[in-house]
Amino acid sequence: MSSTEHVPVLAQELIDLLQLEPQHIVVDLTLGRGGHAKLVIERLSKEGTFIGLDADITQIAALKSMGLINQTHTPQTHTESQARTVLLHSNFDKVGQVLKSLNIACVDRIYADLGLSSVQLLDEKRGFSFQSSTLDMRLDPSSPHTAEEVVNTLTEADLNEIFEQYGEEREASRIAEAIVTSRKTHPINTAKELSEIVRQAKRNHFKKVHPATQVFQALRIYVNDEFGTLKRMLQQIPQLLCAHGRFAIITFHSLEDRIVKNTFKQWEKDGICKRINKKVVSPQWSERKVNPRARSAHLRIIEKI
Ligand SMILES: C[S@@+](CC[C@H](N)C(=O)[O-])C[C@H]1O[C@@H](n2cnc3c(N)ncnc32)[C@H](O)[C@@H]1O
Repeated sequence: MSSTEHVPVLAQELIDLLQLEPQHIVVDLTLGRGGHAKLVIERLSKEGTFIGLDADITQIAALKSMGLINQTHTPQTHTESQARTVLLHSNFDKVGQVLKSLNIACVDRIYADLGLSSVQLLDEKRGFSFQSSTLDMRLDPSSPHTAEEVVNTLTEADLNEIFEQYGEEREASRIAEAIVTSRKTHPINTAKELSEIVRQAKRNHFKKVHPATQVFQALRIYVNDEFGTLKRMLQQIPQLLCAHGRFAIITFHSLEDRIVKNTFKQWEKDGICKRINKKVVSPQWSERKVNPRARSAHLRIIEKI
């Protein structure tokens, strides 16, 4: 496997906890390169149905063109050996509409693996990595604002708030001030320029992580409205699951994990769902050693009552 390929995180744990049955209807909300999806589809029979979504059309296109997952031609047909499979370009906050359009009243399993795939992260043109020669950061190119527009047009106060709220960046105000000063001379057009401005503005940073990590996280969350889409998606889950249906989600930073944890607690309090794993599932040392992306991963899962 090349270093640019995406290695699915917590794959065995996810499969074990989903307890799939061959006839299940399963929704993958974040297909990516289909690493988890392939493991799921393998466990479904022709009586089963797999629906996969991704907000990034390039991910769907790659899956189809590389034949990583063979989509059956129409949602109503399937091959002898394979579950009915539907791959769609859609934000997961539209999952309710998607299922309605497929005439599916409820599903047995839904799962999500948040964030970005390694392929997106390493793509120069996307502007997600510190050395990129662009500053886009949109998952879906039809989203209204790029990170470039955000850093060049928002006020210092707004930038400060974004870095504080979405990046928990302690030096948010120094960084916002440095950005506004720098863009007076010329606009900030690349991730490389931005990461250098942040590096110079920061007084303290841990050597193990890049100094612009939190600022890049914050911009990505803001540009893609990641918390808004996550909350809107979560709201729909209890209605979309059949009785005893399960929902699993892998998060990669404390802010999104907090949203999931609090939502699950509320569902338990309301008597809608019960937690399957009382403690959050984290990757084993052996996985963390070989896959740096896994280090901050947390898996939570609930079952509808
Ligand atoms: C970590 S990757 C998933 C990797 C996948 N599980 C695999 O094993 O290959 C996350 C994927 O979710 C997609 N994504 C992120 N936010 C999304 C959203 N709101 N709606 C739909 N897809 C989203 C990204 O484009 C990316 O392809």
